Amino acid sequence: MVTRRGFLGALPLGALAARGLLGCAGAPAATVDGGTVTLRFADYPALANVGGGVVVTVGQPLAVVRTATDAAVALSGLCTHQSCPLTYPDGSRLLLCTCHGAQFDMGGGVTRGPATLPLAEYPATVGADAITITI
Ligand code: FES
Repeated sequence: MVTRRGFLGALPLGALAARGLLGCAGAPAATVDGGTVTLRFADYPALANVGGGVVVTVGQPLAVVRTATDAAVALSGLCTHQSCPLTYPDGSRLLLCTCHGAQFDMGGGVTRGPATLPLAEYPATVGADAITITI
């Protein structure tokens, strides 16, 4: 299991010291405040719809999928086989590894190997205009 400390360990110190904006090049910024990541629907429109999802980088990849009107899941976006980044085909409700083909369900469980270990899951809350994840 990835601990909060381990997850945040890769964050730039400036982001840990103060409220920061992080994301990968070309992607909208995720708001990170301490151990809370906020993904606004205005920045990530896929999350406004059930079945939509994104993989963002907040120190490490984090996969967030809207699973219901009032629910979302947040999972590590790194494959447990050899740490390749995962992708989320919109509406698939599966996270896919681009390296060797592993697949994970929305509970983080392995649905296709070669990975054998589940993904770490983080609490996620759906609000009026954003999804908030505690890492
Ligand atoms: S790194 Fe994901 S299946 Fe190998």
